[in-house]
Amino acid sequence: MITDIDVNKPEPIVIGEKLKSFNHGTEVGLTIEALEQGKSILIKEFYNDGISLLQDLHKYLKLKSPNRSFQEQHQYRSEYHRLSNLILLEIVNQKLCVKKSPSIGWLEKFYPENNHFFLTFPQIQGLNSAWQWYKKGISIPVLRNKVHPYYGTYFPTRFEHLVLFDNWLKRYEGPKKTAIDVGVGCGVLSLQMVQHRFQKVYATDINPNAIVGLTEFMGKTKLSRKIELDLGHLFGKWDKQTELIVFNPPWLPETHDLGGMDEAIYYNKALFPDFFAAAKKRLLPEGKLVIIFSNLAQITNVTTEHPIETELAEGDRFKLERCFKKSVSAASSKTKRDLHWRSSEEVEVWVLTNN
Ligand SMILES: C[S@@+](CC[C@H](N)C(=O)[O-])C[C@H]1O[C@@H](n2cnc3c(N)ncnc32)[C@H](O)[C@@H]1O
Repeated sequence: MITDIDVNKPEPIVIGEKLKSFNHGTEVGLTIEALEQGKSILIKEFYNDGISLLQDLHKYLKLKSPNRSFQEQHQYRSEYHRLSNLILLEIVNQKLCVKKSPSIGWLEKFYPENNHFFLTFPQIQGLNSAWQWYKKGISIPVLRNKVHPYYGTYFPTRFEHLVLFDNWLKRYEGPKKTAIDVGVGCGVLSLQMVQHRFQKVYATDINPNAIVGLTEFMGKTKLSRKIELDLGHLFGKWDKQTELIVFNPPWLPETHDLGGMDEAIYYNKALFPDFFAAAKKRLLPEGKLVIIFSNLAQITNVTTEHPIETELAEGDRFKLERCFKKSVSAASSKTKRDLHWRSSEEVEVWVLTNN
């Protein structure tokens, strides 16, 4: 690993006792009963045995919670989470022991010295799909090169907001010496700024995986001299004034019934007030503060509050120069409910200047 930052990764599971196993010949009912009793089950023969056990688990839970009420859906998901995470896979010398299993490069990167441990089947599925994305890379319409999102790092799956930001960058005529990118993720906004000839971008993220991933991605190329990274909250160690600050923050307020908090998607009450206060200190008098946002929280009725409008109305620090909006194409949504709100979803690029 290039940096000495510890990344977030699944914690290896160590098992002393012999585990019950499951394969195509095992009685499914008894296996699910064991899972219900909190016993771990090992997938020993084929990777696909695990996939078929997960399918059986879905069928079983559907019979248990057949209704689509919010409560039953919630129960369904938490039961699935609990039971599926008792299904284990064995890893020896950084490889899965089962036959016909995917080869997952993260195992070598994350556990170079751990030659025997277990992970849960869902953890392996997560590592596997992240590895596919990482290896294949993602083509982003406004970027010349693909990005390779690191395990556990946010990456965009729709691009309208990036197009809006790119259009703004095309018309921007101010100085291009330095910029700050708060919450860099897999680097798309920083890469856009470099492509538009910003000389230096100072970027941060609170997620160590984002910082390690980008450090690895840039290696010793020219890019690594143009984008400097810091693992830290909001502006991290960057306190010099700059002509451009960009932030694509989480778009949804955190709610109480959230299990796993995801800081790429959900913001807490303090995030925006703290961000604007810190941005005020770091924006040059003629500088621009660009924030990417969306009406997602409002159209899904999560909140009526819009943190940027609140800042403009009450903050007395910045004024609005322009707000660009673009509707999001109703993508391949899975449910009707989704489609309904998707049709009115808009992304926003807010350009603020000092008051
Ligand atoms: C919606 S993602 C945007 C990532 C990237 N800039 C992009 O546009 O694709 C938000 C990012 O902000 C980071 N983040 C959230 N809270 C933060 C904080 N307080 N300080 C720094 N970064 C933060 C998250 O880890 C995540 O990478």
